[in-house]
Amino acid sequence: MSEQQHADDDTDSTSEKLVELAKRRGYFFQSSGAYGGVGGFYTFGPQGAALKGNVEDAWRDRFAVAEGNMEIDAPTIMPEPVFEASGHLDGFDDMLVECPECGESHRADHIVEDNTMYEDAESLEIPEVEEVIAEYELVCPSCGAGLAGQAVEDFNLMFATNIGPGDSDPGYLRPETAQGIFVEFPRLKEYARNQLPFGVTQIGRAYRNEISPRRSIIRTREFTQAELEYFIDPEVDEPDLSSVEDVEVTLYPASEQNEEDGEAFETTIGEAVDENIITDPWVAYFLGVAKPWYEAVGVDMDRFRYRQHLAGERAHYASDCWDAESEIDGNWIEMAGFAHRGNYDLSKHAEHSGDRFTIFRQYDEPQTIERATVDPDMSYLGPEFGGDAQVVVGKLEDLAARDREAFEGETVEFELEGETHEIPVEKTGFSVGEETISGEHITPHVVEPSFGVDRLVYTVLHHAYREDEVDGEDRTFLELEPEVAPTFVGVFPLQSDDDLEAQADEIVEDLREAGLSVTYDDSGNIGRRYRRQDEVGTPFCVTVDYETIEEDETTVTVRERDTTDQKRLPVDELAETLSAIRAGDLEFEEL
Ligand code: GAP
Repeated sequence: MSEQQHADDDTDSTSEKLVELAKRRGYFFQSSGAYGGVGGFYTFGPQGAALKGNVEDAWRDRFAVAEGNMEIDAPTIMPEPVFEASGHLDGFDDMLVECPECGESHRADHIVEDNTMYEDAESLEIPEVEEVIAEYELVCPSCGAGLAGQAVEDFNLMFATNIGPGDSDPGYLRPETAQGIFVEFPRLKEYARNQLPFGVTQIGRAYRNEISPRRSIIRTREFTQAELEYFIDPEVDEPDLSSVEDVEVTLYPASEQNEEDGEAFETTIGEAVDENIITDPWVAYFLGVAKPWYEAVGVDMDRFRYRQHLAGERAHYASDCWDAESEIDGNWIEMAGFAHRGNYDLSKHAEHSGDRFTIFRQYDEPQTIERATVDPDMSYLGPEFGGDAQVVVGKLEDLAARDREAFEGETVEFELEGETHEIPVEKTGFSVGEETISGEHITPHVVEPSFGVDRLVYTVLHHAYREDEVDGEDRTFLELEPEVAPTFVGVFPLQSDDDLEAQADEIVEDLREAGLSVTYDDSGNIGRRYRRQDEVGTPFCVTVDYETIEEDETTVTVRERDTTDQKRLPVDELAETLSAIRAGDLEFEEL
């Protein structure tokens, strides 16, 4: 979790105005407001839920459907052994420091980063952070009391619960949707007909008990992730980079971040791979796919970059990671991570569960190999080891496969329940023979594009936020892309009149039948209705006036949000024309 966004907390006017607009117009607001609200939990209102749904649909179209990947929907609560295996139980911690005066909890690494020259305090050890707090005489951000001498502790971010009555079966709310995919690998590989590579996606909630949630929906305790786990054979599978090699990207590699005057620079995916700036071609492929997608949903490309993680910043499972970052009020926030997870997760789940998290790699030609086997003398092992004789057989088989030299002396040694045992080699039936095999079982590696939907929604809104003046009046509008705008068209009868309303109702019905998202508004003067739709980012408004019902060829006024230009269009062409614009096949200016 690289977080540079904590440098400012809602102090910029655009963010403040956006958060106010979001609440007023139904994008998002702190939940359980009737009970005083609860930190880190947000409700998406009618506009926000629609925008978020449209972003998720666009993600699904690109990363599941267009790439030919599967999608699953796993539970959000998983049993403890899953997180013992994944490493989250032991390693998914943030550094917590508590104020001795006001009792507020804070992220110690954030306090260090915000007030010292340390940029990556997360990579420091706890005693080092305590030393820095004392050296710089850092204080509590809430009340100003000194924090020197306060203990810094690891705080596990997972929400714990009990599965069923009692506490014998602990469970956790998943901190990433990814684990729901990894644990089902033994079954999912069957659906992929045991063929690598294949990808599995999931869009769903993740939960982290953040020490200090902040900046509205940027850091919350419950959020939505859209993740793709792409399983590959690292020795065989290579991506086809031809479709992404010309994609232009702004990169900020670790090497530049480590230089005092290092900076992000522009290049293409192809060049970045050729010059070894992005070392893994699969990571490069997904960065190349994601960039135009981000642009299509409305992220401003002048405020977008890919930043490589510094070595100390990477998650426990990642060997390399690049973040997609957006600029918000002068700070960069992480919207997604593109990590190479190696075979960490599948091997850990294999080790802890005993299930098969491997896939069979078929050789082009059968190969003859030497194999060491044992055929132990049970009339010797039985009396010597009693009920453990079969366990000993397993130990000897493992040892023969791993370490033939162990059988070269007179006796062979192995561990059983913490004790070292020794038996004569002649009793093991050890031998080395030749075998012809057609393939081997390998543990696939995983490349993971992991998108945070809430941070993307925030970015899309922030980058779309505009203020201008229309007819001498100040106007606020959201220049949302038609593909994601919650409502595509607003329909208004010019004034309260049965005939106008009847015609407007008919138009609403037609447009909805064409699959467009439509809102009907007959309250207030027409200027106010335009402003209302501008503020929620509705790209077009249609006004039904007296000309509409009096003319032979009925026409309506169609107004475009960004330019406020108006054109008259025949009613019977309206659905077709607006659908073509929505699909990107026609521009309003062409009408
Ligand atoms: N499976 C990998 C993974 O979870 P991550 O970088 O911890 O990686 C991925 O999370 C994305 O999830 C982040 O880039 C961010 O967009 C989002 N995210 C993480 N923590 C979040 C939080 N507390 N609130 C909102 N979004 C969050």
